[in-house]
Amino acid sequence: MVSFISCFFFLDPFSFFTSLFHDGKIRDIPPTPVFAYGTDKDTATVPGPTIEALHGIDTYVTWQNHLPPNHILPWDPTIPTAIPHTKKGIPTVVHLHGGISEPESDGHAESWFTAGFEGKGPTWTKKTYHYHNHQQPGNLWYHDHAMGLTRVNLLAGLIGAYIIRHPEIEAPLGLPSGNGYDRPLIIFDRNFRTDGSLYMNFTGNNPTIHPQWRPEYFGDAIIVNGKAWPRMNVRRRKYRFRIINASNARFFKFFFMNGLTFIHVGSDSVYLERPVTLKEILLGPSEIADVIVDFSESKSHSAILANGAPYPYPSGDPVNEANSKVMKFIIKYQREVDTWPFPNKLIKYPSPDLSNASVTRYIAMFEYTSNINEPTHLYLNGKSYNEPATETPKVGTTEVWDVINLTGDNHPLHIHVGLFVVLDQTELVDIEAFKDCMTKMNDAIKCQLSKYARGKKVQVLAHEKGWKNVYKMTPGYVTKILVRFSYIHSNASYVFDATKEPGYVYHCHVSIPLLPLES
Ligand code: C2O
Repeated sequence: MVSFISCFFFLDPFSFFTSLFHDGKIRDIPPTPVFAYGTDKDTATVPGPTIEALHGIDTYVTWQNHLPPNHILPWDPTIPTAIPHTKKGIPTVVHLHGGISEPESDGHAESWFTAGFEGKGPTWTKKTYHYHNHQQPGNLWYHDHAMGLTRVNLLAGLIGAYIIRHPEIEAPLGLPSGNGYDRPLIIFDRNFRTDGSLYMNFTGNNPTIHPQWRPEYFGDAIIVNGKAWPRMNVRRRKYRFRIINASNARFFKFFFMNGLTFIHVGSDSVYLERPVTLKEILLGPSEIADVIVDFSESKSHSAILANGAPYPYPSGDPVNEANSKVMKFIIKYQREVDTWPFPNKLIKYPSPDLSNASVTRYIAMFEYTSNINEPTHLYLNGKSYNEPATETPKVGTTEVWDVINLTGDNHPLHIHVGLFVVLDQTELVDIEAFKDCMTKMNDAIKCQLSKYARGKKVQVLAHEKGWKNVYKMTPGYVTKILVRFSYIHSNASYVFDATKEPGYVYHCHVSIPLLPLES
């Protein structure tokens, strides 16, 4: 069986609900013009429709572009972008984040296209994307991935959830399902003008060189499923929330102000082996936490989901009155007989096998500010996006990557078409000496990484020990991961030729794609 979905995106006013529950005021602002995904103009929403796929059944999506000629947000023409000089409208391309897809359907940053496919990027190959859905069941999301425009296209609203279901293996788990008891929460931050439009500060950090470029975007309003600080009425029972951090740069540290806990059942696109109960979730941009919340445990009639993560994370500003609140759950008084027996085992996937690793790679994240005080550039191994690919793994192989974060910020590293396990995180001691060496030699072995990587170890938390596609690279630490470039369940065969153009990328999810990865 094959399902066809035709998707359009439109510029359409979509109303963000703006009741600020925390100060008791309802402050209505006019509808916000957005870019939205949908099957037609009238039903396009932010976030876009949730695509539900069944494991093993192909999904074909013809992504069409109906965006207007001009962007609703400022984009900086002085950085490399997909904006063609032919004035053919706004480029966009869709990436299914977490999808193990053929390269032609991966949404490569340079496979963008404009309205009516009039303008096309250099690696564009086809109109209809093919998602195989052969991977394990779990949570994915789709978002724009166009070169140099990802940040503004996401901010404008080009975001949606994609769930792969496998009823045969998921039904026996007995997790909350149906009747709205299982739903994605797509969370991001935005700023608005009083006329309702999205606000983005577009005076660059160094306006004489890059008029609009600033490294990170942060907004004070926290938006959940398209509404600012929304309320949700819930019953006194268990719910499943697939929480997607769709912010450009904001980390969230979620917690319930009344002490309710999160029972983690999955992380990113993969189930955990067994549930993990925690009071707090630290979620970097584009990480996904799949959790059960049991409202029957609540001692109060309402529960506020709050945020405590400084921005930028970890050493930026502390949260304020606005961005410290996320949403409010109003809980029915009447207790329900919850029929779900909660499982103590979920799904077991093969554990990382280091002996199988074919290669060890060293990936150093550098931030450069040039002497003419240009804005910061983030490089991987001292290389910019345009240089030839240096990481060329083979499909089906496993590799060890030592990711060395020499910047001051935490970077959520995302690898396309692979899943990885975080093995450990070790602090670099004497980091300035190591940085000096790396700046000169750019070679972690010659700079004796092992001599410096002997500081504190950070525990990988139980709910993040499984297979992930994004993980937080702690600043000043080396993070060792084991990456598998294929499916993690053993019986699947490869259905695509990943050696073909346009290839894949890996990148920090705070910014635009950085370095091409051929696999
Ligand atoms: Cu979420 Cu390369 O993307």
